[in-house]
Amino acid sequence: MKFRKGEVILAPMASYTHSAFRRLCRALGADRTYTELISVAGILRKGIPIKYAYFTEEECPIHIQIFGSHPEEIAKASQVVAEQLKPDFIDINFGCSVPKVLRNKAAGYMLKCPPLMGEVVRETVEALRPYDIPVSAKIRLGFEEDHVEEIVEELQKGGVSLIAIHARTAKQGFSGKALWHRIKDAKKVASVPIIGSGDVKNWRDIEAMFEETDCDGVMIGRTALSNPWIFKEFKEKRDIKVGLKERMEFILKELSMMTEYMSGEKACAEIKSQIVQILKGLPKARELKSYIVRAQDCTDLIKRIEEVMERDRELLYT
Ligand SMILES: Cc1cc2nc3c(=O)[nH]c(=O)nc-3n(C[C@H](O)[C@H](O)[C@H](O)COP(=O)(O)O)c2cc1C
Repeated sequence: MKFRKGEVILAPMASYTHSAFRRLCRALGADRTYTELISVAGILRKGIPIKYAYFTEEECPIHIQIFGSHPEEIAKASQVVAEQLKPDFIDINFGCSVPKVLRNKAAGYMLKCPPLMGEVVRETVEALRPYDIPVSAKIRLGFEEDHVEEIVEELQKGGVSLIAIHARTAKQGFSGKALWHRIKDAKKVASVPIIGSGDVKNWRDIEAMFEETDCDGVMIGRTALSNPWIFKEFKEKRDIKVGLKERMEFILKELSMMTEYMSGEKACAEIKSQIVQILKGLPKARELKSYIVRAQDCTDLIKRIEEVMERDRELLYT
């Protein structure tokens, strides 16, 4: 199984962590990437959605993340993914708690029943045996109640190879603080690598999470959207100030790569949410953001980005 203790990992984030963003984060030092969650029902009905599942060698090791409600469907969809894409891992999402997903008793809903989670993993591991692809799981501490040790034990009985823990319950959403000490408790019952997730805000927090939880890897979510350089900062153990020009160069590179798997117009529409993220913390961020995202089409967007890059000299990043 391909995992090295001490890895820093780009978290899966729906609408953001597609191939281009993953590639750029790998180049900045992320050791591993995940796709956003992909519906098992969709895969079985319509095939694998290319926009979410497209990846290149540069993003590997990669986990293709799937979610569903029934063990046999999840196992079947994992075979379709294995057959067509041969990823390093197939990851099962047991954390998402948006109302539509919960209504279908999928993903985060399963936190209510750890033995069912174990069953999902068992059937998927079995289905993937011919492909020699390990199964990982991304979990929360529980649905409403925190029973992370029991969850870890059931997943292990099912044959899971690696577990990422967002240290909140599903009910909490993103409120409150991630309970890092519960990652440490989970680690005590774990025989597989444990990746910690939740509230890493800068590179020093990565060090702190390793120290405080004894986890094997640290996953970075929201902070990587506004500061993808966090991976480099951690590797080089220093703060890196990144100005507007470099941030906009990142966006232009991402935009260009996105057109490998979506139309130029769609890429220009989708990149706007990433522009909002990457401007966070810069002086005059709000003004810059509203100027750029008002672009009418692709040509206009690129023109505005290039224009804004020129202003870099006037802005001092703090
Ligand atoms: C916009 C957004 C989308 C997310 N999408 C996913 C997803 O598709 N799959 C998943 O397992 N977690 C998803 N997450 C959760 C993150 O992977 C991560 O566990 C969580 O944000 C906590 O880490 P952070 O505090 O570093 O952001 C998402 C989070 C955000 C903010």
